[in-house]
Amino acid sequence: MRMTLKVWRQKGRHGSGSFGTYPMDDVNPDMSMLECLDVLNEHLMAKGEEPIAFEHDCREGICGSCGFMINGEAHGPLPATTVCQLTMRHFKDGSELVLEPWRAKPFPLIKDLVVDRRAFDRIIASGGYISVATGSAPDGNAILVSKEVSDRAMDAAACIGCGACVAACPNAAAALFTGAKISHLSILPQGKPERDRRAVSMVAQMNEEGFGGCTNIGECTAACPKEIALEVIATMNRDYTRGSWRERDNLVTTIRPFTEWSTGSKLKVDPLQS
Ligand code: SF4
Ligand code: FES
Repeated sequence: MRMTLKVWRQKGRHGSGSFGTYPMDDVNPDMSMLECLDVLNEHLMAKGEEPIAFEHDCREGICGSCGFMINGEAHGPLPATTVCQLTMRHFKDGSELVLEPWRAKPFPLIKDLVVDRRAFDRIIASGGYISVATGSAPDGNAILVSKEVSDRAMDAAACIGCGACVAACPNAAAALFTGAKISHLSILPQGKPERDRRAVSMVAQMNEEGFGGCTNIGECTAACPKEIALEVIATMNRDYTRGSWRERDNLVTTIRPFTEWSTGSKLKVDPLQS
């Protein structure tokens, strides 16, 4: 297959970037998008040029390392598919593909198609865990979990932290990611004791990182390779609303008004201070 790849090239965070145009006539239709970039990089290195930087690890849709925009769509045109799973046969012979990094302020560019997604790590570190006494493995039947509840928790836990939801959202909101990381714990009995504190803390960190407010557009779930449902945002909102009231004496200094992060408004009224 013949393809032309137009790839965003930028040496570092502070420099300016531009598109490099790379015609290819040896694209195997069974290659993945990342393997296509591998082949292109071999050509570039053979000519003494700088290879294109892109992230990858598992190359089977599990780790969340890969991800960039293809013709303006996060992870490309196929639903529920990461760029490492996307094979070239899904594009027409002779296509031009425009590859760009995730564009969102909280994901500063590192190089070419690689962005810094440590903001997600900091959101998880702020509360995306349960505190348990370690020791020998507990009896599997000690805490019963219904099939329906475990299915919902597992669906939320499928989030691989790729960042496509942020890149697809016109507000650069991280509500789907944060909602997934809150929900997969708070739905289960083991996650309930810290439910309130977790939601308040993780939403505060999400705000702190500079992600935009969710306005229920739904681009995030459409772009998500793991098909995380918008339901997780509703769970986050419920947990946050209840938690910000119950935890008002402990965490009042670290959280911003619900209205500001949820609607993007600049209302400067802290209901917890009044
Ligand atoms: S919610 Fe979906 S798109 Fe967002 S980080 Fe998780 S897996 Fe990626
Ligand atoms: S490289 Fe792991 S999900 Fe794509």
